[in-house]
Formats: sequence, C-alpha cells, structure tokens
Amino acid sequence: MSPLHVTRTLPEDATQAALRADVLHGLTATPKSLPPKWFYDARGSELFERITELPEYYPTRAEREILLARAGEIAAACRARTLVELGSGSARKTRHLIDSLTSLEAYVPVDVSESALTRAGRALIGERPGLRVHALIADFTAPLALPGTPGPRLLAFLGGTIGNLLPAERARFLASVRSLLAPGDGLLLGTDLVKDERVLVRAYDDAAGVTAAFNKNVLAVVDRELGADFDPDAFDHVARWDAEREWIEMRLRARTAQSVKVPALDLAVDFAAGEELRTEVSAKFRKEGVSAEVAAAGFAFGHWWTDAQGRFALSLSVAR
Ligand code: SAH
Ligand code: TRP
Repeated sequence: MSPLHVTRTLPEDATQAALRADVLHGLTATPKSLPPKWFYDARGSELFERITELPEYYPTRAEREILLARAGEIAAACRARTLVELGSGSARKTRHLIDSLTSLEAYVPVDVSESALTRAGRALIGERPGLRVHALIADFTAPLALPGTPGPRLLAFLGGTIGNLLPAERARFLASVRSLLAPGDGLLLGTDLVKDERVLVRAYDDAAGVTAAFNKNVLAVVDRELGADFDPDAFDHVARWDAEREWIEMRLRARTAQSVKVPALDLAVDFAAGEELRTEVSAKFRKEGVSAEVAAAGFAFGHWWTDAQGRFALSLSVAR
C-alpha cells in the first residue's frame, strides 16, 4: 500500500465551475483581471520551477539560504509532529525543514496543482520512509479541512506566495489559517522584501522570457478548459512596480485590438490595442507590516530571519 494519500477536496466539475465564474467575472470587469491560481496546470507548474532557477529570480535562493541556516532553530522552537504546507509546489526547499524536524510524523502539502503534489509527494516518501504524506488538492483561499494528524503543528507558507493575495484577501486568509491551528502551533511565513525597483522588475521579467511564458500560460488554460481562442502571441508580458502599494503587478497587454471568444461562457471579450489584463500581484513586505498582519490574525510574532543580503524574510509566529 502506498503511504502517499491524495485527497481532492473539490470535485473536478467544481473546479471547472470556479474557473468559469472567475473568468466571467474577471473578463467582464474594468479593468480586466484573472486570479493567479489558474496559472498552475502541469505546464504552469513546470514553468514556475524553471522560474525558480533563473538568475534574476532571487527569492527561491534567498529563502533556501535562510531555511538551511535556521532549520535547526525552527525545529527546536516548535517540535512539530505535523507539518502543513500551503502552496507547496515542488516542495524542494521544504526538504531542508523536514530533515531538521526530527519529531515529524506527518507532512500535509496543500496545492491546486495535482501534478506538482504527486511528484513532490513521491519524491519525499522515497527519501523519508515512515513519514506519512497526506497531499490535499485544494484551494487555500477557500475553507480547508485538514486530515486528523497529530499536533503540535507547524504551518508553512513559503515562496512569498502570500504576496499574491490582495491585502483584504490576506487578512481573511491569515485568520482562516489561525483557525486551523491550536494555541502554541507555529506559522512559518516566507515574505519577499521591498528593495530596489530594478532588481524587483527583473525578477518578474527575465531575459530568457520564462516568466512571460508563465504569465501567458493562463490564456492557454482558459483556451483549453473553456474553448476560448486567446492567441498568447497577441499579448505582451508586462511587469510593473507599484511604488505606492509596494507590489509588482503582472499584466498581459493586447498588441492589437481584438475580440476573444469564450464559447463555454457564451461570451465575446473585446480588447482595445494596448489594453492590459491584470494576472497577478506580488506584494513586497517590511517587517512592521508582516508583524502587524500576523498579530491581527491572532499570532504572537516571534522570530524574523533574512538572508545575508536582506532580500527575503522568513518569520516564525505562534498561534495565541
Ligand atoms: N512553495 C513553492 C511554490 C510557490 S509558487 C516555492 O516556494 O517555490 C505558488 C504555489 O502555490 C504553486 O505550487 C501553486 O500551484 C500554488 N497555488 C497558487 N494559488 C493557490 C491556491 N489558491 N490554492 C492552493 N494552491 C495554490
Ligand atoms: N509566489 C511567486 C512570486 O510572487 C509567484 C511568481 C513568481 C509569479 N513569478 C511569477 C506569478 C510571475 C506570476 C508571474 O514571486
């Protein structure tokens, strides 16, 4: 019997229904937008893995550096028997944490990408026999039910993915994360930090064009799932720093005026030449902001670690 358990919290037709609702809402709004979770089909997850290896994309390396340096301290602070990870993806960095958590019995990766989850789960089981891996295919912005694994729990949310939520969504998200935990459980949060605009923009607009391909992949998902006729080549990838909100905004800009059909929604969407569709924000943080947000959600803000260059932070907070 395989020790990898995979639970799908949403039936596939519900995922389709959610995609339809999001596309209908986003493409008929002004300005147009699409929510980022739809980037991550099998191809999107692969493209994201390539992003993490780009010379311009520093967050993965910076966060790995912190995890390698601090895994022992993290393990000593929380002695977790269950590690829950939201948006786990390939979980490559997570291995460093798992290696240090000597009391760990169960690992619960949660992701919308089934391909990333099963791949990561199988790799981990090979490396750490005896660890129960219970993968959840689920949307972490919706209410979650975790499997009944033993406490204390450590909930990790790495990669700066929290920055992909808008501020109001973030507050709701952190409160719901708190409700999954018991007093004393830990929250390990990876946040990318505010820095030089050129460094930030390059991280989201690399020379090899991998991020552009990733951004356009959301159009391929809508084409495949809803029969739309988006031509990814008719759009340009745009990454812009919003200095006031302190976030990078990813957009797709229509090269020419065009009309896109979405048969599954009985919809035609008109784009003016140069019109932009927002696909993602990636907020950058400061220590004061992170501590205020986790405190407002019911956590005692504890450790704050950065990489040597001060580009990225990992914080460990405790549920009150
Ligand atoms: N933690 C990894 C991956 C970060 S990329 C790292 O640090 O490298 C973001 C991950 O979150 C992807 O694996 C994506 O599939 C997942 N994801 C994005 N939105 C999601 C959502 N709403 N619910 C669950 N998973 C989501
Ligand atoms: N969580 C990642 C980040 O904000 C996701 C990401 C990296 C991303 N590059 C991207 C999302 C490009 C959309 C487009 O850094």
